[in-house]
Amino acid sequence: MNKDYSKYFEPSLKDARKRIEKETENISFTLEEKYIGIGIGLTYLIKTYGCQGNLADSEKIAGILDLLGFQEIDDESKADVLIFNTCCIRANAENRIYGELGRLKGLKKERPEMLICLCGCMPQEEVTIELLKNKYKQVDIIFGTHNIHMLPSYIYEAYQTRKRILEVYSMEGNIVEGVPIKRAHEKKAWVDIMYGCDEFCTYCIVPYTRGKERSRLPKDIINETIQLVKDGYIEITLLGQNVNAYQVKVENGNYTFANLLEDLAKTGIQRIRYTTSHPKDLDKATMDVMAKYPNIMPHLHLPVQSGSNQILKKMNRKYTKEQYLEKVNYLKSLIPDLALTTDIIVGFPGETDDDFKETLDLVEKAQFEGAYTFIYSPREGTPAAKFTNQVDPIISKERLLLLNKYINDGFARGNKRFEGETVEVLVEGFSAKNPQLLTGYTKHNKLVNFVGSKELIGNLVNVKIEKAYTWHLKGKII
Ligand code: SAH
Ligand code: SF4
Ligand code: F3S
Repeated sequence: MNKDYSKYFEPSLKDARKRIEKETENISFTLEEKYIGIGIGLTYLIKTYGCQGNLADSEKIAGILDLLGFQEIDDESKADVLIFNTCCIRANAENRIYGELGRLKGLKKERPEMLICLCGCMPQEEVTIELLKNKYKQVDIIFGTHNIHMLPSYIYEAYQTRKRILEVYSMEGNIVEGVPIKRAHEKKAWVDIMYGCDEFCTYCIVPYTRGKERSRLPKDIINETIQLVKDGYIEITLLGQNVNAYQVKVENGNYTFANLLEDLAKTGIQRIRYTTSHPKDLDKATMDVMAKYPNIMPHLHLPVQSGSNQILKKMNRKYTKEQYLEKVNYLKSLIPDLALTTDIIVGFPGETDDDFKETLDLVEKAQFEGAYTFIYSPREGTPAAKFTNQVDPIISKERLLLLNKYINDGFARGNKRFEGETVEVLVEGFSAKNPQLLTGYTKHNKLVNFVGSKELIGNLVNVKIEKAYTWHLKGKII
């Protein structure tokens, strides 16, 4: 053991895979008195990578740092505490972060008093810890996804001892309520409803980095939403790696995702979205609730991953192409104008040309209006990384390009159907590309640009769509 570490808890993928029957504990965030004010006069910057789960976690980290007295800034070179909230879903996600860390060596030499912290999913992997120990000595504090709430103690100790702190747990994970949240938006909020994942899709690292599936209590989620409505929020997005697995035992059975969705729709929040859904667990009750309440948005992100049953089986997805389409068709029978988006992986081990054709066929049949498409990236510790018939990267790349053509056509078609229609837009701000234009999203999650004044930001407005482009719509406010 390296004696330079004042705290020392290393991750273990083997432990992270374990799921023992242990009741999830609900614990409350508390702040010890000695930590109060440790950030006064100091600044911080958080860099966030990966999924919405990480965006939501970063809002908690910011909430904690504000509580300690730190001030948020956007100049990395001046930050006293610089935090990387990381993602390891694919190799390229990790490589980007290593690039950034490498770049910081010089800055840390110039300003040795600054604290560089690495958290999120990367430190949950053993390989990351090895690399950090040997190559990235500029990182001062390393913690994982299970112990964000302990950040005050890590910063305090780092300042006191000037030693590297490494504390990453591979346990199943608890639920921590009451962590302060500094929300990035004033009208749109993330609301965590469950943590972790028990699906173990054979390609995926998330069940190892986020621990076991565990659901927040309904009252905590409902109260958070009621407060958001009071605070003037218009839109919430419910978050979890598999929101359809949301479940809490109650006296007379189980309280499910459909129950939660319905109770939240009744809070009066104007727009509800949720992500991510698992096709196996998306049930009829949930789809019925979606159709029943106009404040649940007519957009569903339903990752399919592949259209080949052979590949779906090897991925451990537990549904077939036909079952996927059946669910989609049922939902479309209830909500005919539904916008459907998905995630697809190409080049999964053993994927043949015929398997890929099945994926293209599914894309046609499901009429996706957008997708995140990826080349399979082996993740150490996952079963698929050991599968023997890995696909030639050149072939994977060709498949990705062809798939993207299909997906882009769907994107354009999905936008085209709104030409001439009047749509409701939640105005987010001025477009980064063209500061003359306001920008926001419709109920169907389509991006709209239009001319308008600053006062409209944060409001719901009606826009008549004049022209559809592949990636956005253009219209006039009415
Ligand atoms: N829980 C969500 C999101 C998981 S991560 C879900 O089940 O869909 C987001 C997406 O990344 C996945 O849907 C999948 O398409 C992709 N992904 C996950 N692991 C991957 C890997 N090893 N290689 C390539 N893409 C991957
Ligand atoms: Fe990963 Fe599958 Fe869980 Fe999604 S459902 S996080 S892809 S293991
Ligand atoms: Fe990445 Fe972790 Fe999310 S690996 S996609 S940040 S759960």
